[in-house]
Amino acid sequence: MAVDLPSPGRIRSRALTRAGRFHRVIYDLRTEGTSRRRDAAAVGLGVFLGCSPFWGLHLALCWIAGRLLGLNRLKLYLAANLANPFVAPFLLFAEVQTGAVLRRGAFYELSLEGIKREGPWVFGGDFLLGSLVVGGALGLLAALVTYLTVGRASHDPGFSTVVREAADRFLPTGITAWEFARGKLRNDPVYREVLCGGWLPSGGTLVDVGCGQGLMLALLADARQEMDEGQWPETLPPPPRFDGLVGIELRRRVARIAQRALEQDATIIQGDVRNTLPCENRVVICFDVLHLMSAEDQDRVLAGVGRALEPGGMLVVREADAAGGWRFQMVRAGNWLKAIAIGRWRQRFHFRSADDWRACLERHGLVTDIQPMGHGTPFANVLLRATRHQGSGDRG
Ligand SMILES: C[S@@+](CC[C@H](N)C(=O)[O-])C[C@H]1O[C@@H](n2cnc3c(N)ncnc32)[C@H](O)[C@@H]1O
Repeated sequence: MAVDLPSPGRIRSRALTRAGRFHRVIYDLRTEGTSRRRDAAAVGLGVFLGCSPFWGLHLALCWIAGRLLGLNRLKLYLAANLANPFVAPFLLFAEVQTGAVLRRGAFYELSLEGIKREGPWVFGGDFLLGSLVVGGALGLLAALVTYLTVGRASHDPGFSTVVREAADRFLPTGITAWEFARGKLRNDPVYREVLCGGWLPSGGTLVDVGCGQGLMLALLADARQEMDEGQWPETLPPPPRFDGLVGIELRRRVARIAQRALEQDATIIQGDVRNTLPCENRVVICFDVLHLMSAEDQDRVLAGVGRALEPGGMLVVREADAAGGWRFQMVRAGNWLKAIAIGRWRQRFHFRSADDWRACLERHGLVTDIQPMGHGTPFANVLLRATRHQGSGDRG
């Protein structure tokens, strides 16, 4: 059983002490046997076991399978819960009918009489065979979707270490915040790209607009600390380094999580960027925020950021590309599901195509280059780097 326990460290040891025994158990369960393939295998096998007719034994089966195969038991069991009371009747119906067609070439008559006529052994045999076929198909599909959506960051041991350190900052807040940080930093390519891809110039203050719980800020703060302590992985290029880190976040609770994780390493301003525009800055980053505003607000914010950038300063934006076909539809669906999950039913979105984003930035005097930012994921995202011309005096 591979358990990804934190090594002793400033945040980690304190975090684990506070988290207590319950958090520790969840932590161990959550982190065992994790890699892209193993995650996909755990989810696929969990769905398969959940579809099996051995109701009442699913937990035990998941536990044993996880132990024997070195897979994450929590993920196995969560995936097995596909067969919950809402879905189970449909699943049962599909499995019995599939078994009947495969064994006797005919569907069941939809009545108790029909089942009685065939007898319990025939019914049981149909159910068993049907569950193998339907469960196998659903399990394979779930494994494939997991494999495609979980990124490749875990194949990079240097970056994985940096992510683990940054994510551990969120452990004192709770398992959910830590879990979210760990998953997002590992699986969303934008964080590695911006930290290690030479996108940001060092120096001055970096402002993260719509910083959420402060994931990029946590990475930057940890990278700086690891460089100072000579702990930065040799396999990675040196990260950018800033004199100050600032985050602006609309949601009060999320802003509090960010401040708690970052402590004195960054200042988090709780406010609306439409009214709280950052003043003179060298670098502004804005990931997945602008589409949450109307087109007019997007323009207003970009104009304000453009004015507030120092000459030679830079704005890095990550947004979806509305011309990205089905991969854009995946982004749209993800945003919609998230809005429902966090109770923002009325959230409106305004997406643009990559060309439109570029045109919008250039209208505000920012010279822009653009790069796809969805590799390894099924999402059509782009990263735009907009630079304010040296000597540009337009303060609007
Ligand atoms: C999809 S999240 C991205 C968070 C963060 N940029 C990241 O990469 O993890 C978008 C964030 O923008 C925040 N946000 C949306 N509109 C905002 C506004 N007008 N002012 C400040 N923050 C805003 C939301 O509350 C949310 O936390």
